[in-house]
Amino acid sequence: MEKKMIRTQTGRYPIYVGRDLLGHAGQWIKPEHSGYYIVTDSHVAPKYLPVLEKALEGRKVWHYTIPAGEASKNLDVYSRVITDMLEKKLDRQACVIALGGGVVGDLAGFVAATYLRGVAFVQIPTTLLAHDSSVGGKVGIDHPLGKNLIGAFYPPEAVIFDTAALETLPPREMKSGFAELAKHSLIQSATFYHDLKASIPDLSALSADRVGAFLMRGISVKADIVEQDEREQGLRTFLNFGHTLGHAIEKEAGFGTLAHGEAVAIGMIFAMKLSEEYYGLALPVQEVREWFDRLGLPTRVPDGQSADRLMAQMKYDKKNKNGHYRFVLMQSVGHLSTNQVPENLVRRVLESFMR
Ligand SMILES: NC(=O)c1ccc[n+]([C@@H]2O[C@H](COP(=O)([O-])OP(=O)(O)OC[C@H]3O[C@@H](n4cnc5c(N)ncnc54)[C@H](O)[C@@H]3O)[C@@H](O)[C@H]2O)c1
Ligand SMILES: [Zn+2]
Repeated sequence: MEKKMIRTQTGRYPIYVGRDLLGHAGQWIKPEHSGYYIVTDSHVAPKYLPVLEKALEGRKVWHYTIPAGEASKNLDVYSRVITDMLEKKLDRQACVIALGGGVVGDLAGFVAATYLRGVAFVQIPTTLLAHDSSVGGKVGIDHPLGKNLIGAFYPPEAVIFDTAALETLPPREMKSGFAELAKHSLIQSATFYHDLKASIPDLSALSADRVGAFLMRGISVKADIVEQDEREQGLRTFLNFGHTLGHAIEKEAGFGTLAHGEAVAIGMIFAMKLSEEYYGLALPVQEVREWFDRLGLPTRVPDGQSADRLMAQMKYDKKNKNGHYRFVLMQSVGHLSTNQVPENLVRRVLESFMR
């Protein structure tokens, strides 16, 4: 088992990563809480809830199972969970435990942040993508007008990542989460990128054990950035590498059509191409593209999407200040910066990228 402490302005908490941690989760969840309220989803519950409940034997435990999927990250489900907790008379000393992927983590975290003005919160991530979402303290839900529009910064008491849970993850979720891990490697260093690519060169190597071995390194990239810039003033924007076009493609395709990581994979290739033009230098774009191809990640804008519409979507990206295009650009693997990029350059590179 690997352990890392995260220290931010709002809190200090440990992250544990290792195989078969779930059955021993009681060790890392403080015993002094008045009750433990597990939030999970309909796919995860049958697989992992009994193990967690067993690990918390002797304590007061409740659970609430939401329907699996992004559609549950809404005000209605949020309100049902809160109502259920009130009816069960959970008090301020209670602890909310998120057992699931990013959807469960974001929702349960927002419940924990707001129930009686805040109760303890523990994250037990079960997807690869959640190596990203469970660290950093962002929690929240969607609004009919957009994703993640309601939320808070609310650090957990602990994050317990059992890498064995990745074994049951559907292949598409595995690939999508891997794109974020690849992103962390590209942000961090040429060494991390080369190590990850060498160990997981293609889809056949994308196993729970191989990926598990890199999880703490991926988490550390995010954790280090978040420790320095919790509220996204500067550095934290690097985590949006590949996300400007990625989000636009995701929105245009209709949320849920393309997995988030798939859209980000395309966005990263584009961000590298744009960086080459912006700085007038050469990057290993082709190498990364071939790697993603071998992993079965998309590397081109899906057919039917239009450059005009993508340009318009990118203009509304939250990083943009006063209607300018801002991108996380790369000077070399491991060296990024956030820059304002002239609209005509973005358009030219996008149009050639879409050809
Ligand atoms: N808070 C943050 O900083 C942050 C960062 C990135 C993403 N997010 C959020 O994370 C969410 C996406 O997270 P996700 O990709 O984990 O999605 P998810 O939670 O919907 O999980 C994906 C699917 O896998 C299933 N599943 C989960 N664990 C499983 C397992 N071990 N075995 C089998 N099936 C399993 C789930 O039921 C679901 O169907 C989005 O809502 C996104 O906004 C948050
Ligand atoms: Zn992302």
